[in-house]
Amino acid sequence: MSGNRKLYVKSYGCQMNVYDSHRMADTLTREGFVETAEPAQADVIILNTCHIREKAAEKVYSELGRMRALKRAAARDGRRVMLAVAGCVAQAEGEEIIRRAPAVDLVVGSQNYHRLPDLIARAAHGQVVETAFPIEDKFDHLAPATSAATRARGVSAFVTVQEGCDKFCTFCVVPYTRGAEVSRPVEKIVAEVERLTAAGVREITLIGQNVNAYHGEGRDGRPWTLGRLIERVARIPVIARLRYTTSHPSDVDDSLIAAHRDLPCLMPQLHLPVQSGSDRILAAMNRRHTRADYLRVIDRLRAARADLAFTSDFIVGFPGESEQDFRHTLRVVDEVGYASAFSFKYSPRPGTPAAERGDQIDEAEKVARLARLQEAIERHRQHFNARCRGRRLAVLFERPGRHAGQIVGRSPYLQPVQAMAPSALIGEIAEVEITDIGTNSLFGRLAEATSATAREPGLATQQA
Ligand code: SAH
Ligand code: SF4
Ligand code: F3S
Repeated sequence: MSGNRKLYVKSYGCQMNVYDSHRMADTLTREGFVETAEPAQADVIILNTCHIREKAAEKVYSELGRMRALKRAAARDGRRVMLAVAGCVAQAEGEEIIRRAPAVDLVVGSQNYHRLPDLIARAAHGQVVETAFPIEDKFDHLAPATSAATRARGVSAFVTVQEGCDKFCTFCVVPYTRGAEVSRPVEKIVAEVERLTAAGVREITLIGQNVNAYHGEGRDGRPWTLGRLIERVARIPVIARLRYTTSHPSDVDDSLIAAHRDLPCLMPQLHLPVQSGSDRILAAMNRRHTRADYLRVIDRLRAARADLAFTSDFIVGFPGESEQDFRHTLRVVDEVGYASAFSFKYSPRPGTPAAERGDQIDEAEKVARLARLQEAIERHRQHFNARCRGRRLAVLFERPGRHAGQIVGRSPYLQPVQAMAPSALIGEIAEVEITDIGTNSLFGRLAEATSATAREPGLATQQA
């Protein structure tokens, strides 16, 4: 339909956006578009945006300024460039985007990506804003990736299994930008994973804003839990590694714990955000669990799989957070001993209950608490990494390294590992003996006689 029009997609924010960007590109490729990494060459530019914190949302407008310049330069050459804003800022701000950035031709909310070909055609005749939550399931209409596109994206792939959130944490925009929780049916997920593995993918990360609230329909017509879904996906041949993210502590059920106990290919790393260690703040955040509940979940998971490494997200300076509350957060960091964690200063978001509160914390205090928290997180991260020295870790190699002869992959715990090894091992799992610990990566050498077994699915049982 569109000849060889060029498409440039840029993704901000979380893995859900990365996945959506791929699906948008796949859908437009089916319409004859070709992807480019150069915005200056594109005929259609899509910014897939994030609204989670003020900084993330504002970044979009500075990027739109740059894109407007490209659009003008193209117009001088007689070429029309279409500028589209997708994702969570599109969903949250809608028309407002066009008021602030009139160069934008199309605003497309997160549930309308399957309609992109039609929306792009319409936007050629005037600006279009589409942020409704349609009844039809976008996943049924988005094109799957071609094998070539899958191979180009690497050996590790995301698959969205659940979208949206019903939790309404009082700081968070996601329930508004992504809508209510919807789970994809088991068989559709299985079919998508089979396509990916047939194209060479070895590691699958099942993703959702609240992934362990998964309750998709199984073949039996009944809702399945995430644990049951993982057990099913793990049986797909040649899957070497499975992960899932992001989980909510109150939705960790017995089936998920059993999956960690029974499935060697389910990697021993779990992102389980706690946000705060203070019960008072957890309640004000509407997190629906206490500090003790959270620690109990961690204990149950560790009892099922002793080497599980935990990561988390934290917010400092939530309205009303006292020094005492903050110290409880520091204590949780020490109690759990995270392998790593993300931490953020609370950012008031329009339309969320916490933003309305009168007891906002000073910026300077937020900055100071963030630094203290990050110091604690870093101490544990380094300790966790240091304990890997001298160990053998199974590494899934993903790409060439920075230096000649070096390739880079991930350990079961998601640490980047660099090793001198033949590039033929990219896409394979090999045992690496860890010799050095860098700032962000581990370094090691191939352990003998492991590469030959790399393609056996059973290798996963030797990990950890
Ligand atoms: N669904 C996930 C998190 C999604 S948002 C969960 O429930 O944990 C990713 C992270 O951004 C959150 O875990 C939180 O730490 C952070 N975040 C969300 N809203 C924020 C805000 N208003 N200010 C600062 N950080 C925020
Ligand atoms: Fe946001 Fe809370 Fe939902 Fe996570 S669980 S997406 S933090 S509302
Ligand atoms: Fe951002 Fe939307 Fe993800 S707000 S974190 S892109 S769900």
